Amino acid sequence: MTLLRKLLKRLRAMLPKLRIVWDYSEVDAILRDRDWQMAGPVQRMLGPLLGEGVIMATGSAHTALRRQLGPMTHPDLSAIVDAFEPTPGLADISADMMRLAEDVMGAVLGSPGALRGVGAIVRRCVALAPFRLLGLPLDRWALRKLDKVLSGLPVPPWLVGQDLTAKQLRDWRASFVVAGLDTLAADLTAQLVGVKLLPIYWLPRKNVATGELAIVLLSEGHKFGGGFRRCAGEHVARELVRLVKERYRLYVSVSDSDLRPVGAITQRLASVVGELVKQDRRPRSQDNDLP
Ligand code: HEM
Repeated sequence: MTLLRKLLKRLRAMLPKLRIVWDYSEVDAILRDRDWQMAGPVQRMLGPLLGEGVIMATGSAHTALRRQLGPMTHPDLSAIVDAFEPTPGLADISADMMRLAEDVMGAVLGSPGALRGVGAIVRRCVALAPFRLLGLPLDRWALRKLDKVLSGLPVPPWLVGQDLTAKQLRDWRASFVVAGLDTLAADLTAQLVGVKLLPIYWLPRKNVATGELAIVLLSEGHKFGGGFRRCAGEHVARELVRLVKERYRLYVSVSDSDLRPVGAITQRLASVVGELVKQDRRPRSQDNDLP
């Protein structure tokens, strides 16, 4: 059977119980209702990457993990933004913002610098995840590489003193790098350009009482989700954007950029080329105008 037929068969099996929900109040009600749990194809797609961490966990397992997380400690974002050096001249802004996101998430996980280069690996794992619905394995090379980096990280600050297995620690770290890297990079880039973008634009849910499946489409008011699964990194994300916009100005090269949103699981702008300049400096591209 061809891969396409397999996919269509799976979709047809799910359809009778699947609803797409976009009405704001209904989305809100579903996100707040504990009967509606994380479920469905996303678990199949991202399970090997996220393990049994907070993003994939359901029911009492999810409640226990949120309790373990508690009020998250935040790194010194202002110092990280100050130390950040954008690529001089015209550059790929998404790549620069991914570098900044890596610095921030490294600091969140207690090891600044340890996540350099990890954004590309995570992005690759997430981009290939939909192919798992066709029965293809997730990119094993990338997953092994990611696991190696994760195992070298210290115990995350909020878990120090708790008695956890190596697998539980791995899944906490994986949940954070997956939840934080691509989303931060995409959001920072879009906000610098001045384009509205939802890095996570849909969420899967299953009603444990009725078996009903829903794809919940998010709007700006639910950018960070809602209810008992609301994003744990919202403060970090909002404060980082505030600091970056306060300290940098972006000069976009419109002819070199493609501002369409792309991505099946997470969303980002296709390509942003420009020059990122500290607020108190002139862009290099305007050097010729100097008297
Ligand atoms: C602009 C950046 C971000 C956006 C738009 C975003 C969005 C979201 C959304 C929509 C959810 C809900 C998922 C669901 O209900 O199934 C979520 C969950 C989560 N986010 Fe974020 N996020 C961002 C950045 C971050 C950062 C920086 C971190 C870590 C420091 C983080 C950690 C988490 C975690 C751990 C969860 C899972 C919460 C749970 O299932 O209980 N996120 N995020």
